[in-house]
Amino acid sequence: MAHAADLAIEDLNVERRAEPIGIDALHPRFAWRLVGAGSNARQTAYQLQVVNTDVPGATWSTPTWDSGRGEGADSTYVAYAGPALVSRHRYSWRVRVWDGDGLESAWSTPALFEMGLLSAADWSARWIAHVVPDLVSEPDEMPRQRPAPVLRRRFGLSSVPRRARLYITALGLYEAYVNGTRVGDERLAPGWTDYNRRIQYQTYDVTSLLHQGENMLAVRLGDGWYTGSVGPWGRHRYGDEPALLCQLESQHASGELLTVATDSHWLARNSGTWLNDLQAGERTDLRNEHSNWNTVAFDDTGWDPVSLRAAPGSRLVAARDDGIKMVEVLPALSVRAVGTGSGSPRYLVDVGANAAGVVRLRTAGKSGQHVVIRHAEALDATGELYTENLRGAEQQDEFVLADTAPVTLEPRFTFHGFRHAEVSGVDAPIAAGDIESHVLSSATRLVGAFSCSDPLVDTLQRNIVTSLRANFISIPTDCPQRNERLGWTADLQIFAPTALFNADVTNMVDKWLDDLVDTQLPSGAYADIAPAPSGWAGAGNTAWSDAGVIVPWVLYERSGDADVLDRLYDSMRRYVVFLEADQTNGLRFGGRYGDWVSLGARTDKLFIGTAYLVYVFDLFARIAAVLGRTADEQHARELAEKARRALQRTFVDGDGRLTVDTQTAYAMALGFELLPESIRPAAGERLAQLVDAADTHLATGFLGTPLVMPALSDNGHHELACRLLRQDSHPSWLFEVRQGATSIWERWNGWTPEQGFYSPRMNSFNHYAFGAVGDWMYRYLAGLHPVEPGYRRTELRPQPGGGFTAARATHESLYGTHACGWRIDDRTLHVDVRVPANTSATVVLPVDTIDGLLVNGQLLADSKGAAAAVGGVRIGVPPGQHTLEAPYRHA
Ligand code: BGC
Repeated sequence: MAHAADLAIEDLNVERRAEPIGIDALHPRFAWRLVGAGSNARQTAYQLQVVNTDVPGATWSTPTWDSGRGEGADSTYVAYAGPALVSRHRYSWRVRVWDGDGLESAWSTPALFEMGLLSAADWSARWIAHVVPDLVSEPDEMPRQRPAPVLRRRFGLSSVPRRARLYITALGLYEAYVNGTRVGDERLAPGWTDYNRRIQYQTYDVTSLLHQGENMLAVRLGDGWYTGSVGPWGRHRYGDEPALLCQLESQHASGELLTVATDSHWLARNSGTWLNDLQAGERTDLRNEHSNWNTVAFDDTGWDPVSLRAAPGSRLVAARDDGIKMVEVLPALSVRAVGTGSGSPRYLVDVGANAAGVVRLRTAGKSGQHVVIRHAEALDATGELYTENLRGAEQQDEFVLADTAPVTLEPRFTFHGFRHAEVSGVDAPIAAGDIESHVLSSATRLVGAFSCSDPLVDTLQRNIVTSLRANFISIPTDCPQRNERLGWTADLQIFAPTALFNADVTNMVDKWLDDLVDTQLPSGAYADIAPAPSGWAGAGNTAWSDAGVIVPWVLYERSGDADVLDRLYDSMRRYVVFLEADQTNGLRFGGRYGDWVSLGARTDKLFIGTAYLVYVFDLFARIAAVLGRTADEQHARELAEKARRALQRTFVDGDGRLTVDTQTAYAMALGFELLPESIRPAAGERLAQLVDAADTHLATGFLGTPLVMPALSDNGHHELACRLLRQDSHPSWLFEVRQGATSIWERWNGWTPEQGFYSPRMNSFNHYAFGAVGDWMYRYLAGLHPVEPGYRRTELRPQPGGGFTAARATHESLYGTHACGWRIDDRTLHVDVRVPANTSATVVLPVDTIDGLLVNGQLLADSKGAAAAVGGVRIGVPPGQHTLEAPYRHA
């Protein structure tokens, strides 16, 4: 049999993860990457085999499931359709494909996946807690915090296991140890959900940590979102004390399966951490810590018994993402001693970027000495930490040293939004090498890159990624510093396209959509934040609640995952029913927030509400179409049409002008296709005039900002859009950059030379929303446009302008790396593109003739494969890397 030898198969993944363990998808979806170039580097058929490695004798010749030959190009989201997958079982799978010529590839190298605990009956563990009887609080005082408990369980193993797994979760946070070694590298696990409905558990491979004989499983518990502060509402939003549920299962060659689960045999005590809170920080007295408390050797005489707790009624679900990790280390850029005099000096440390994370400090002192670390985003005019804008979030860590030995101090159960830290209470001077910031994020893997010829725009890109990472912490949040840190829904719907270009957050956003559905009211409205702790009432607001339809659509477009639409369909449909009931003759008032934090211009909320009504009905119609729900599609189209006509009747005057004369209104009208075709060009003109009239400045808030740039570029004003991006006077993206911003600010006027800091009541320096321009930078400036869901087809459309002489974007989709880069020199436009196998791409060049056009060094002799069309020359390119050169004169 002839082999398509040059088509390799790589990067096998299941549920968008490489060799995941502990998954609970009953029909997991497979994806693989084809590696090859040329027009045959595409799949015309595949065959996939799965073998249950836990069934003795199972082999590739007797697979558990064989897909048979599946015709077609699908190399992503191919769902398992074999016999029911079994809890704990480990499966091996492989795939082969047929290429464009019908030639067959070799089988891929097999990859593994492993099931988690699929039913409640698989859990023998009971919920346990350490109850402290003497927690009394003085009248009129803050309730006394309960110290973070540590729990341990000794157990014996007759042999070294061949496989061991720890299934674990907590109400609160956990850090687990086996024989003194930390299990995994997740932070703040199990993450945030509405604990009354769903609790995520994680699965870890602990095989290599166990040995024959006595072993120790030990866990430290923290308060987290469950017991600690959430938003501005203080502590105890879900419960009063943390609790643990875990189950260590080891399999032995003898066939023995041993389970060590949380039960009444565990022992517990208070750790030295007397306070831990995501907002307040962590306070630990190292004199009450024991270095080997989590090992067998430790004498636990006098430890308390644990108490069993009733299981919460919520569902246990396997975590779908990789959790929060330390994603970067920021070394101290400078350390400055201040406030000498009688006391010991304080040290002000600048780590160079306003990220989310914790400080790690190496120091030494005396027993009983208090080392205090405070955190802030900025310095005030006197050079001290500026903490007012943190509102109620103290962001302070404190350690009481145990002895004179050198120690490394780092909190476990908190994070701070900061660039500057102040250390006090140390004896020895702090050198830059003694202190660093450990950046924490759920956005562990960056999958995109953008760069261009303007270094200030490159800094903007870096700031976008910093704010992305700082605000993807278990859930997508508004900000990581003040007493808020909530899953504000509009912030994400605005920023999701940019986030998905830059980082692999698909699984995390997919999980968050379940959090959002958990907030849905009987009326069908989604809350404005998700998760929404009990008592939260805001729901149904335009652009916020609408995230329930917008985000699934964006996720589908960018990931290609149609199942997300299917899973959420009934919920989205209920939301559409809510919208239908909440409008009057096609008009809807846009709720509480409007074009949030817009400077100057106010855009009528009836306009905004109605504009979003059209947009959401349109999206829902497209969603229904993808799923083949024809009647729903038809109905949604009618609703959209009715709202569109109502908007036009109410807001378009006799001259075809909007009566709401703001940048946001025009950007929305163009972006959401609200206007009759005939008046679109004039609307584009008017938008450009408004930007011009503002001296090439924005007058937009959260809702208008992401729409202005595409609306300009799509309507003949790309040059103006480029100049707007490069604007560096207030208000603008680069104004912030010029002020030294290392993250994206919540407000255009967060700080100005004239006014200093804006009111501390709402002034974060780490809100990703305005970073939504990143999507335009990738798609319009560099020209990387995904046009079919999941990047199956791209348009690579370099669009120079505004004096940029180069730009380049890359993105790694499930298919591989896509790239579009361009530069101009010597009146030549040089373009280089990359097209992964099994995808197709069209390069669209901003020239009007194919004369002199070189493709991979060859003159494009005739117009075969190329067509000069309005908006540029279009050239289909096969998978591979290509360079194109065209004579080009600056506009
Ligand atoms: C948050 C925003 C959010 C808004 C809603 C603010 O406090 O920080 O980002 O979307 O409230 O009004």
